[in-house]
Amino acid sequence: MTTSKRRYHITTFGCQMNKADSERMAGILEDMGFEFCEDPNNAEVILYNTCTIRDNAEQKVYSYLGRQAKRKHEQPDLTLVVAGCVAQQEGEALLRRVPELDLVMGPQHANRLKDLLESVFAGNQVVATEAVHIMEDITQARRDSTVTAWVNVIYGCNERCTYCVVPNVRGVEQSRTPEAVRAEMEELGRQGYKEITLLGQNIDAYGRDLPGVTPEGRHLHTFTDLLYYVHDVSGVERIRFATSHPRYFTERLIKACAELPKVCEHFHIPFQSGDNQLLKAMARGYTHEKYRRIIDTIRRYMPDASISADAIVGFPGETEEQFENTLKLVDDIGFDQLNTAAYSPRPGTPAALWENQLSEEVKSDRLQRLNHLVNVKAAERSQRYMGRIEEVLVEDQNLKDKTQVMGRTRGNRLTFFTGDINQLKGQLVKVKINEVRAFSLTGEPIELRQALPV
Ligand code: SAH
Ligand code: SF4
Ligand code: F3S
Repeated sequence: MTTSKRRYHITTFGCQMNKADSERMAGILEDMGFEFCEDPNNAEVILYNTCTIRDNAEQKVYSYLGRQAKRKHEQPDLTLVVAGCVAQQEGEALLRRVPELDLVMGPQHANRLKDLLESVFAGNQVVATEAVHIMEDITQARRDSTVTAWVNVIYGCNERCTYCVVPNVRGVEQSRTPEAVRAEMEELGRQGYKEITLLGQNIDAYGRDLPGVTPEGRHLHTFTDLLYYVHDVSGVERIRFATSHPRYFTERLIKACAELPKVCEHFHIPFQSGDNQLLKAMARGYTHEKYRRIIDTIRRYMPDASISADAIVGFPGETEEQFENTLKLVDDIGFDQLNTAAYSPRPGTPAALWENQLSEEVKSDRLQRLNHLVNVKAAERSQRYMGRIEEVLVEDQNLKDKTQVMGRTRGNRLTFFTGDINQLKGQLVKVKINEVRAFSLTGEPIELRQALPV
C-alpha cells in the first residue's frame, strides 16, 4: 500500500475559455486531495480538456486518448476523463469509440467535476452533456500564472456563424452577475494578480440575458457598464478582454477603454473575411466597411491601439477575388497580430453541408499567402516601438535565455529584457525598446523598482 497522494494530469487544447475551465477543474481536483502531475503516465486521473474548432484539433485528441486507453488495460484503476468541446460534440459516441473512458463531460459541467468524479469512483461510467445552468464555482481555481488571470464574464454564444461549432458545444449565452465578476477580481487583486483578461466568446453580448433595462431601453448590464463597474479593483493594474464581435462593438465601449486607465489599448476583433458576400454567407452580420469604421474609431480615440483578429481562408465558394479582398483588408488595417486558419468543415454546422467546398490545395495556398502578408504587416507595426519606452508586466523567465525575463506591453507585444525573474515577477517595468521583430521586442529596463528587503 502506498500512502502517497493520488495524482491528476490535465492537458488542455483550444482557446482561453478551455484554459480557464481547466484551471477551475484543477482547483476542484486539488480540493479533492489530488496532486498535479506533469507526466500523464504517472497520474491516476487523466483529464483531456478538448477542442473541436477544426478537424485537426479534434484528431489530436483521439491520438492522445488512444495512448492512455491502452495504458488502462495494464492499470485498471486509472480514471480517464474527456472534458470540453469534443466531449460535448460526441457525447455517448465517444464511449463507443473509446470504451475505456470513465467520464465524458461538456464545458458547461466543468464546475461539477467533483460530483461527476464521485459517481465514477462509485463504479459508474458517466456522460454529462445535457444543457445546464452554469453554477458559480466556490472552489479556488489552480491558475497557471501568479501574475495574469482569466475571468469568465459570459459563457456560450447565441450567434450562428455558419462555419462554427461553438454554439453547439458551449450552449446559449449565460452571463455572470457583475457582482460575481467583481468579487473574483477582488480576490485575484488580493492574491497579487496584476492583469486580468475578461473572457467571453462574444463578450459584447454580456448582460443580454441578465434582467433589467434602462429608461432608454438599453440592457441594464452591458459589457461597457461592467468595465466601469470593475475597473477600480485594487491590486489589479491591467484589464484586457476578448473576444469582441464587430456586429455589436460600440463607440461607447471604445470611449470607456480610452477613459479607463487600467484597460489596455489592445483590441481582439475577428473579422473572418474582407469580402461582403462571404461575410453574408458566414452570417457574421456586418460588412467590411463597418469593420473598417470600427478600427478608425478606435484609432481616433487611441491612435496607438493594437489590433488583432482572426480570419478564415477557403470558406466554401470563396473566389480568388474574394480572397484578395481579405488580403486588401489586412494590408489596409495593419494588424499587430492575426490568427489565420484554413476553413475546416465541422459536424453540425451549415457550411459543412454546402457543395461549393474548396480543395485543400487552394486553401493551403491562400493560407500561406495570407500568413506571409501578416508577417510583413506585423513587422511594420513593430517598428513603431523602436526606441520607445514601454511598460512591461513581467510574467516569466525567457525560457530560451534564462538571463532574460519576458512580459507584455499594454499593446500585448511579447517583450524580453535582461533581469532576474525572482526580483521582477509581477512588476511593471519601464523598458526602452532597442530591437524589434514581427511578434516580439527586446529592450533595456530604464527604471527598476527595487525589491524591498523583507
Ligand atoms: N467567438 C470568436 C471566435 C471563436 S472560434 C468570434 O466570434 O470571432 C476562434 C476562431 O476559430 C474563429 O475566430 C475563426 O477564425 C476560427 N474558426 C472557427 N470555426 C472554424 C472553422 N470551421 N474552420 C476554420 N477556422 C474556424
Ligand atoms: Fe463562433 Fe460566431 Fe459565436 Fe464566434 S460569434 S463563437 S465565430 S458562432
Ligand atoms: Fe475549441 Fe471549444 Fe474553444 S471548440 S476554440 S475549445 S470553445
